[in-house]
Amino acid sequence: MDTIELTNITGLRGEVRVPGDKSISHRSVMLGAIAQGITEVSHFLQGADCLATIDCFRRMGIEVEHRQTSLVIHGRGLHGLHAPTELLNVGNSGTTTRLLSGILSGQPFDSKLSGDESLNSRPMKRIIEPLTQMGANISSILRNDCAPLYITPGHLHGIHYTSPVASAQVKSCVLLAGLYADGETSVTEPSLSRNHTELMLREFGADLQSTLLPGSSKATAAIRPCTELYGQKITVPGDISSAAYFLAAGLLVPDSEILIKNVGINPTRAGILNVCNAMGGNLTVLNERTQGGEPTADLLVSTSRLHGTTIEGEIIPTLIDEIPIIAIMAAMAEGTTIIRNAAELKVKETDRIETITDNLRAMGCSVTPTEDGMIIQGKEKLHGATIHTLLDHRIAMAFSIAALVADGTTKILNSHCVDVSYPAFYDTFEELL
Ligand code: S3P
Repeated sequence: MDTIELTNITGLRGEVRVPGDKSISHRSVMLGAIAQGITEVSHFLQGADCLATIDCFRRMGIEVEHRQTSLVIHGRGLHGLHAPTELLNVGNSGTTTRLLSGILSGQPFDSKLSGDESLNSRPMKRIIEPLTQMGANISSILRNDCAPLYITPGHLHGIHYTSPVASAQVKSCVLLAGLYADGETSVTEPSLSRNHTELMLREFGADLQSTLLPGSSKATAAIRPCTELYGQKITVPGDISSAAYFLAAGLLVPDSEILIKNVGINPTRAGILNVCNAMGGNLTVLNERTQGGEPTADLLVSTSRLHGTTIEGEIIPTLIDEIPIIAIMAAMAEGTTIIRNAAELKVKETDRIETITDNLRAMGCSVTPTEDGMIIQGKEKLHGATIHTLLDHRIAMAFSIAALVADGTTKILNSHCVDVSYPAFYDTFEELL
């Protein structure tokens, strides 16, 4: 079923625009819904995950209109959500589940959230714990610390939470609950994860401070309860996590030059650019600007001879979603690439240490999985194989790029899973041929 067959090519040339950033698109709907007035979002990502977020808010009485060039959210204020008529279906989306749980914990009604098989096996203790400390009533219905989750009204108070993981979903969940708490709520994380929630909350009028501890990588964000947020106009930059596949394609496919226009390069997301440079890739960042508080640029790449590198430490949260495609670059590079401190890969849409290892091995690459990453021996050539995506969108897209530089034919099973973050992924290639 929906298997795509790909073979190798040369000469990817031209300009592409990638869809809007997934993390920012989710947040625009969430904050728009709980703000007063209209929020108008251009370049919103119409991927399955973000559509799940819209669906959840519609079930709580929020009107969301898809206009020709924008999404319009009719916000009902911090206390304007209605009790959902049915279960909130979060699909495959961890961001919807964790951020929405923070908002729901502050509501005066009961709610239930559930998703697909992959989502319902991902860890939720990481949000249940801090929310419970705040006074929320949130439980795992099957008592396995996973969704489905059941949330009933609680009285929230401000806490200081030290998160054991650098996770923007955990941080954002606690900060959003903090909007409904009776005092200041702060989150310290071991190193700074994506900060879109903080940037956007401030744009919407929240009282939020971010600090980096001098001499350490620890980061704290603190929010005070507020009476209202106010609807905004938001332009979502192109998603660097989607751009990453075309960066890699431009670097790996012979005789290529690709210009990727309008990509968000927020430093908390842009670790892949450092990795491209460290591997010897021809990458130029052009036309840097700020769009709605988010740094944005155009990225030009051309065919390069890459070499291995070591990726570890505080850069990891800034490229965690790009590790599948970085692994493909490593497989085609000269020498060894070591990825460490990335145990979070195990709790993504699939266990990505396993899915990357198994599929790269199927293509003839030598990979050693470790507890918190992998060691990849670069190779001159990969060979075509059958790729088991296990419905993980980033595995499907990363291995589609591998297929373009592999001998023979590669079959990508269940390729439709790209719809989660990039429904037009395969069409974008047509623009470069
Ligand atoms: C996201 C945060 C990251 C990332 C995910 C999107 C977000 O997850 O992997 O794709 O939008 O906040 P974690 O917070 O679990 O690291």
